[in-house]
Amino acid sequence: TDPLRVALAGLGTVGGGVIRLLDANRDLIARRAGRAIEIVAVSARDRSKDRGVDLSRFDWVDDTTALARSDADVVVELIGGSDGPALTLARATLGAGKAFVTANKAMLAHHGLELGEAAEAAGVALKFEAAVAGGIPVIKGLREGAAANEIARVYGILNGTCNFILSKMEAEGRDFAEVLAEAQALGYAEADPSFDIDGVDAAHKLSILASIAFGTRPAFGDVAASGIRHLLGADIAEAAALGYRVRLLGLAEAGPNGLFQRVHPHLVPLDHPLAHVTGSLNAVVAEGNFVGRLLFQGAGAGDGPTASAVVADLIDIARGEFGPPFAMPVASLAAAPKADSGER
Ligand code: NDP
Ligand code: HSE
Repeated sequence: TDPLRVALAGLGTVGGGVIRLLDANRDLIARRAGRAIEIVAVSARDRSKDRGVDLSRFDWVDDTTALARSDADVVVELIGGSDGPALTLARATLGAGKAFVTANKAMLAHHGLELGEAAEAAGVALKFEAAVAGGIPVIKGLREGAAANEIARVYGILNGTCNFILSKMEAEGRDFAEVLAEAQALGYAEADPSFDIDGVDAAHKLSILASIAFGTRPAFGDVAASGIRHLLGADIAEAAALGYRVRLLGLAEAGPNGLFQRVHPHLVPLDHPLAHVTGSLNAVVAEGNFVGRLLFQGAGAGDGPTASAVVADLIDIARGEFGPPFAMPVASLAAAPKADSGER
């Protein structure tokens, strides 16, 4: 059988992780996918940068958009940004009838519907497991594993950088800015870390997760978000004294007035599992009417876990196992219900 030929755009934290993972687990992946998965072409901004991986075996393409016209079967986008080169590449790839894999939640939150329509029209895969909760297979878990359920509510810790900051401030009494710098050095933070600390990244992810859970159109504009920028060590210490931990949560809930979607810091009681999710881990809780309460937990950021989700998408494509990008074909997705005011 022919290998699945992959073009890779973006060779930073996640892109480098994908190359290392495909190298390390090559044979196992080929057995599971039923054929080899081979990177054939790569692109990033700076060709001369040392990335700690051997790139000489791949074609280097200066113009990232040209990857859509390469002889690869699938393009993997790991650049980031809701618009710009990532979106140009996505449109060009799907327009050329090639499969597209991305970890880019910002782009999906803003343009997911358009890209989903383009993928369906071309009959190709659009996969984005890595875009929500890093290495946790939560898209697959809800889209496939819980597909038979009506979901009442989905919520959780969706940003590894914020959880890392909150955990370190609480456990080690460390300074916000210093821990944020550490999260950046570890590759957890977005290129613009205000997306993390202001709750925007979690809101991007929540809008995608809510679409999968409720079968609605992703509606980023309906997510009210606030972050942890203004939290003080004293706030965290006071919460702890009262028996709570502070966690940045995203919550989507079907209510009588519409779909309530909100990201903000919560006081989580110590007897709730989310209070014990520490460091860059993420966790997602979903409540289905037949399956009951599901809890997904694992690494929400970083090169290895995120690459694991990207390559899982490639394995699905290599096997020919993919359906519509969202919970159901785009034409059948319910219009995003008007945002609930949150009043009960
Ligand atoms: P990095 O900043 O580490 O890497 C970005 C890569 O994109 C770099 O290789 C960079 O090139 C390349 N790039 C940037 N601008 C351009 C451009 N104009 N044209 C071509 N290439 C460009 O980001 P990450 O790897 O951390 O993130 C990638 C994506 O994955 C983002 O969408 C992010 O939100 C998402 N993500 C990240 C996670 C993480 O833990 N880091 C987890 C889950 C999702 P160069 O290296 O030459 O500068
Ligand atoms: N910046 C993101 C986070 C990366 O910290 O969760 C994973 O999506």
